[in-house]
Amino acid sequence: MSVKKVLRMGDPVLMKIADIVPVFNTAALSMLVQDLLDTMVAQDGAGLAAPQIGINQRVVVFGMAANPRYPDEEKISMTVLINPVIERLSDAMEYGWEGCLSVPGLRGEVPRYTHIRYSGFDQFGMKIEREVKDFHARVVQHECDHLDGILYPQRMTNMRTFGYEAELERAAGMEKKS
Ligand code: NI
Repeated sequence: MSVKKVLRMGDPVLMKIADIVPVFNTAALSMLVQDLLDTMVAQDGAGLAAPQIGINQRVVVFGMAANPRYPDEEKISMTVLINPVIERLSDAMEYGWEGCLSVPGLRGEVPRYTHIRYSGFDQFGMKIEREVKDFHARVVQHECDHLDGILYPQRMTNMRTFGYEAELERAAGMEKKS
């Protein structure tokens, strides 16, 4: 289909609670999913939520083969997840670096649950249910937050870790050398 413009933080559409998808296996839903996948791949994203391209519905896509934006992370199979529900399986949380196509150029450390079960449907209405940990769990929590109008900076507890990617990387490099 096509690569869409990604809305950026500050756009009120990103702050809305998205609507439940009432019907699966429609042409409109297939088109939305394809636009999300095309846009995510074009931007090297690990995930994308429908509100980020201006569609206020509970649809996210995520997945990662080899991603230059996240070179050290595990692979995640390409997934379309609609009307997702997240259940945490432990209270344990961990800080990890996140970025977002709606907050370009920036990174920050965000606390997320490390062990979750998520469920939902694909675009054809097939049920999906998975138990996941660590980076996979982080990506799903980040994407599903978009459906509730939440961007990762709102989840941060230490704003001193928030900064521009190039500067953060340079600072990390300098730390290693010293
Ligand atoms: Ni995001």
